[in-house]
Amino acid sequence: MQNIKRGRVAGRQSELIGGTDLLKIESLSKLSGSSIYVKCEHQNPGGSIKDRAALQLVEDAMASGELKPGMTIVEGTAGNTGIGLAIVAKSLGCDLLVVMPNDQTPEKTRMIEMHGAKLHAVPPVPFKDPNHFYHTARRIAEENANYWWANQFENTSNLKAHYLHTGPEIWQQTEGNIDILVSVSGTGGTIGGNSKFLKEKNPNIEVWLADPDGSGSYEFLRTGAYESSGSSMTEGIGIMRLVENFRQAHIDYAINLPDHDLIAISRFVREQDGIVLGSSSALNVAAAFFAALHRAPGKTIVTFACDLGERSASKLYNSKYLQERGLNSEPEPITDLMTRYRKSAERILQVTRSYQND
Ligand SMILES: Cc1ncc(COP(=O)(O)O)c(C=O)c1O
Repeated sequence: MQNIKRGRVAGRQSELIGGTDLLKIESLSKLSGSSIYVKCEHQNPGGSIKDRAALQLVEDAMASGELKPGMTIVEGTAGNTGIGLAIVAKSLGCDLLVVMPNDQTPEKTRMIEMHGAKLHAVPPVPFKDPNHFYHTARRIAEENANYWWANQFENTSNLKAHYLHTGPEIWQQTEGNIDILVSVSGTGGTIGGNSKFLKEKNPNIEVWLADPDGSGSYEFLRTGAYESSGSSMTEGIGIMRLVENFRQAHIDYAINLPDHDLIAISRFVREQDGIVLGSSSALNVAAAFFAALHRAPGKTIVTFACDLGERSASKLYNSKYLQERGLNSEPEPITDLMTRYRKSAERILQVTRSYQND
């Protein structure tokens, strides 16, 4: 009975958020010569990294008195924050209304409804449209006195969750031996809070942003303007405006990778390591692999398995869906991907603009 991990005993599900494991991706580590780890955020009770933000947003609002038991939490979300809030809301005596674009995977809407939260689906429209899920959530909260808007994009309790917990966990789990942190960004809470904490510990840690097609963050870091091309099957990541959580991130390098690469990486890791990555996690791992191939071997690279792979069943793991998007569901051999990555140094953007005051 040696080496048995001591599990936690909790009185509330929200107490089980955080404290996730770090898992080495042996296959890609061996190929690249660096140790590539994912922080297993799918282990959170709601199955994603967004449980952490949900808990901090709600705890801070309760501490300040803005939110009280019996009130309704309202949030606009691609889904995972909604699931996180559903878990936290119930355990703290609040109701939840989730405003969500109607093109997100049914895996997530189902979970929100199973938790007994109300779901308000809206068409996916550009941010400037008043019917965008963000504006709709804000409007509903403004029109109802007993409602509280979580506002995960601008409310920095979001990045605080990672500054106070995720970053310190990574530091402790790697015993301070981390060279590179790689992260996708939706609100920027994850990359914001973790980069802030880890850079305070060691300013030499490189922070890489992984951006999907259709997101303007890469171009913003390059030029200061939000522009994008293409679109991505990934959900919950990528954005076309500067929000407060992202503004506070310390980013050294950025790369943009296409959906095509997520198919190759996710199938390889599934075959070799038995890990089923969700689409944003596959982007993280592809970017971590890319970073490893452009640095000397022997580095320790940490990224995130942001949510359960199962949440990408109807898109990343659905060949019919991939074909409809014009993607080849036959994965590119990993050796070809490696050769291509090695030859693509020009894809790496070294971030020299300071954007904190934009
Ligand atoms: C699956 C998934 N990955 C990554 C993220 C991005 O996290 P953050 O909002 O902290 O940037 C989200 C956000 O909703 C998500 O749902």
